[in-house]
Amino acid sequence: MFLQDYWYAVAWDHEIKRQPFGRTVCGEPIVLYRQTSGALSAFEDCCPHRLLPLSKGFLQGEHLVCKYHGLRFDHCGNCVWMPGQEGIHKEAKLRIYPVAEKHRFVWVWIGDPALADEKNIPDLSWCSDPNWVFEGSTYYLKCNYQLLVDNLMDLSHETFVHPSSIGQHEILEAPIKVTSDATSVRVTRWMHNIDPPPFWASNLRSFEKCDRWQICNFTLPANVMIDVGVALAGTGAENGDRSKGVTGIVVNLMTPESETTTWYHWGMVRNFQTEDRGLTFRIRDGQAAVFAEDTEILEAQQENILRRPDRELLNFKIDAGGVNARRIIERELARQGAK
Ligand code: FES
Ligand SMILES: [Fe+2]
Repeated sequence: MFLQDYWYAVAWDHEIKRQPFGRTVCGEPIVLYRQTSGALSAFEDCCPHRLLPLSKGFLQGEHLVCKYHGLRFDHCGNCVWMPGQEGIHKEAKLRIYPVAEKHRFVWVWIGDPALADEKNIPDLSWCSDPNWVFEGSTYYLKCNYQLLVDNLMDLSHETFVHPSSIGQHEILEAPIKVTSDATSVRVTRWMHNIDPPPFWASNLRSFEKCDRWQICNFTLPANVMIDVGVALAGTGAENGDRSKGVTGIVVNLMTPESETTTWYHWGMVRNFQTEDRGLTFRIRDGQAAVFAEDTEILEAQQENILRRPDRELLNFKIDAGGVNARRIIERELARQGAK
């Protein structure tokens, strides 16, 4: 079961070109492409004739052509030509998906198309703000998307999973504050007067003591934005003055493919040393290495969960953010089931 009536990031904007692009979102195979104008089209990835995925096909002008027997569809999903007969079979029509392009991503609406409103695309305004720089990538994970949400809402794992980059012992000692409402959860952790870990020391360009923060924000259906950074110790960052520090937002958009597979779009947007393109790609490559460490853990965890259906997950204090997020997802699934 997946949450319906939400926008899901299906790809980065530069990934969708003229070549049909197939991706399954919440169990629904979708084909996307750009019309000659650059506008996006998204349809069910299934030819109504003999059910070949249309992502195996190609574009001819404005028409999407099936690779098997050449059925042609216009940008509204209407069949405009079929082989060996006059006229068009009335059932030869494609289901169309609302699609939008915003904040460097392409989004598809899963659910009732009548409810699709671009105003409800998650607010990632930093990602298209010229004062910030954003770069990232996508990983395909063989795990349920909620394991990723758990992981991102509990950063105590950094100490053990990412010891050489962002992990440090103080993360385990600093208390977390968890707040939530009907659709979101926030986990806040401040670590005062600590040594900056390697990643942050190089961005702060200082090994002096610092105050470090991690503020994880979950919103439906499965988005986690993490406000992270460090500032020189005692310079007022916790009270809102970050002028002696560096800030990044770790963007995490989880798009379920199936119950046990997820398209994970990740990146970091930052407002420091924004002109340094080398740094942009070093950060992206560093993040890629960090998230590869998570991938190994999460896929092994998923395998064991499938192997042991009799075992429950135990929830400790550190899990409060993920537990709250799961509760909100459950409530929303129940509400949708009751519709
Ligand atoms: S399967 Fe597409 S035209 Fe036959
Ligand atoms: Fe991690």
